[in-house]
Amino acid sequence: MTAQLIKGTDIREEILEEITKEVADIKEKHGQVPGLVTILVGENPASVSYVTLKGKTANRVGFKELQDNQDENISEADLLALIDKYNKDDSIHGILVQLPLPDHIDEKKILNAIDPDKDVDGFHPVNVGRLMIGGSEVKFPPCTPAGIQEMIVRGGVETSGAEVVVVGRSNIVGKPIANMMVQKGPGANSTVTIVHTRTKDLEGHCKRADVLIVAAGVPGLVKPEWIKPGACVIDVGVNRVGEKISEKTGKKVAILRGDVDFDAAKEIAGSITPVPGGVGPMTITMLMRNTLNSLKYQLGLME
Ligand code: GUN
Repeated sequence: MTAQLIKGTDIREEILEEITKEVADIKEKHGQVPGLVTILVGENPASVSYVTLKGKTANRVGFKELQDNQDENISEADLLALIDKYNKDDSIHGILVQLPLPDHIDEKKILNAIDPDKDVDGFHPVNVGRLMIGGSEVKFPPCTPAGIQEMIVRGGVETSGAEVVVVGRSNIVGKPIANMMVQKGPGANSTVTIVHTRTKDLEGHCKRADVLIVAAGVPGLVKPEWIKPGACVIDVGVNRVGEKISEKTGKKVAILRGDVDFDAAKEIAGSITPVPGGVGPMTITMLMRNTLNSLKYQLGLME
């Protein structure tokens, strides 16, 4: 059996089309577009490429887009003042500070300084609390977990009463997706287990999963024989395992592998996300949705 492929690249296109239409509609009726600022400190190459892609996507869907690049040596006080400026700017609905930050800056202090009503990353404790409560309390679900849930829903995967096993307990993926899957509502209502580095029987837990969400950052951690036949496998891992020359551009590019051995797993699973082209493209897509929703909350179009 070969699994159904749940492709983030296809779902991204569907959602970006929906967002583009909605932005045009709101612009016509209300004369406003969502505004997103991305603050980048320093020149970490991975961060530069993420931020560039975020900017391009924001432009594509018709947002006002600002990229605010700051020197590696900016002081914590100056960065806090910059955030305060954007908190007060009515044309900005989403503020994103690209992580990681240099060591001399306290990441927690910076993230906590962003107005929770402009925190489109969903990392502020207020938004983490809103997510925990669930339902209409949720304003900005964090982007990668929101993308995972969207893929599960659009992939037609049954989650109600399903055994969901989440491998990994990070604040960005593992903990929030586990919390989202246990809530009431579509793409949720599941029985959820979180497993991590101290779990005694990783294999036994994975084998019970109807939906297996793997976000450990360890290439090939989940063995194909741990997958229940017919299960849905969501691989969040994006691990750089080497380099190759791109056939398209002739430039050096990273070879990416997931946390699951895709070729073997697709013969056992019922549905599976590829790496690359799976969960990855969904993160920026959900950032666009959160930024659009931020404007909609402000205009009273959402509660
Ligand atoms: N660095 C890597 N991923 C992310 C993300 O989703 N948001 C932010 N702000 N920084 C990141």
